[in-house]
Amino acid sequence: MRDDRLEVLLSREQVAERVLELADTISRDYEGKNLLLICVLKGAVIFAADLIRHMRIPLELDFVAASSYQGQSSSGDVKLSRGPSGTLRGKDILIIEDIIDTGLTCRSLIDHFAEHKASSLRLCTLLDKPSERRNESVQPDYVGFTIPDKFVVGYGLDYEEKYRELRDICVLKA
Ligand code: IMP
Ligand code: MG
Repeated sequence: MRDDRLEVLLSREQVAERVLELADTISRDYEGKNLLLICVLKGAVIFAADLIRHMRIPLELDFVAASSYQGQSSSGDVKLSRGPSGTLRGKDILIIEDIIDTGLTCRSLIDHFAEHKASSLRLCTLLDKPSERRNESVQPDYVGFTIPDKFVVGYGLDYEEKYRELRDICVLKA
């Protein structure tokens, strides 16, 4: 499939290599802990699926759904339309996000989970767009790639529900 609006920013090989490194680091950091990965739907689903298959420690997986985006900009109005299904008490939670942009989605997720008496709560994102950060209190603990302020699609990330299936991460040109 060829689409002139798409330009590869991170190739599938670059992504695969970095995901392996992240899985290695996280496996080491959470050795002996009660790791619960919480994948933020839908964008982080491909990243989470690849990440867990490289993990070398036992873990649990749960999902939440949050949305704040309309088109190519964050509305700032974050909704949690699906919460985690199991208990969070005593768990070492690692939130798995596709991308952090303004930080508003992650801020509201962290605030939500903070009430649930987890043992620890950290944040892992495949992509970080720090130049757009509106909530400076959101600092990811694990970052795959820091990218410029461009709208990207592929590897789970969408534009109006399209392009999630692309294997490379691409800039969508306006
Ligand atoms: P934030 O609340 O502004 O940090 O936005 C986080 C969410 O917006 C992410 O989980 C993505 O779903 C979406 N998002 C932010 N930037 C992009 C992008 O460049 N492409 C696709 N989705 C994005
Ligand atoms: Mg998302």
